[in-house]
Amino acid sequence: MSTRTDTTGLKTPLNNLEEWEDFLKQRYPHPAAGAPFQATNPNKKQEEFRNYEATARPTVREFYRLNHRYQTFDFVQSKKREFLSLDRRKMGIWEAMEFLNSLVDDSDPDTDLSQLEHLLQTGEQIRRDGHPRWFILAGLIHDLGKILCLFGEPHRRQS
Ligand SMILES: [Fe+2]
Repeated sequence: MSTRTDTTGLKTPLNNLEEWEDFLKQRYPHPAAGAPFQATNPNKKQEEFRNYEATARPTVREFYRLNHRYQTFDFVQSKKREFLSLDRRKMGIWEAMEFLNSLVDDSDPDTDLSQLEHLLQTGEQIRRDGHPRWFILAGLIHDLGKILCLFGEPHRRQS
């Protein structure tokens, strides 16, 4: 299991990565040889999944080309100095999610959802899958780094 229960009845984080690996093996056992693939949504058609063989949209291709080209160690260090002062804006998580919702992310080829819908959908899917609360929270806030785009950083610099 991905969490354990302490003496107070509270779920606590993992002790080590082996616990996570054990949880994954339990939750997603290898299918028997020859058994058909079982998708999360069995009604989703094969052509609805991302096709990694297909040519990416030019905007997406350019996004990742620039991202890989310019994300150096020195660049990251300079951005840490710039943004870790934490003096740009003070906001709670929900306010940050609403602020992020004003962003249109041209790096995501798979969804036309708003940022807020994407965050809620991700957290909810993780919850529905029965994962622990910390994992749900991670899903809920996983894209908040994109807020840097709203402070003038190009999209490619948020990941
Ligand atoms: Fe995301």
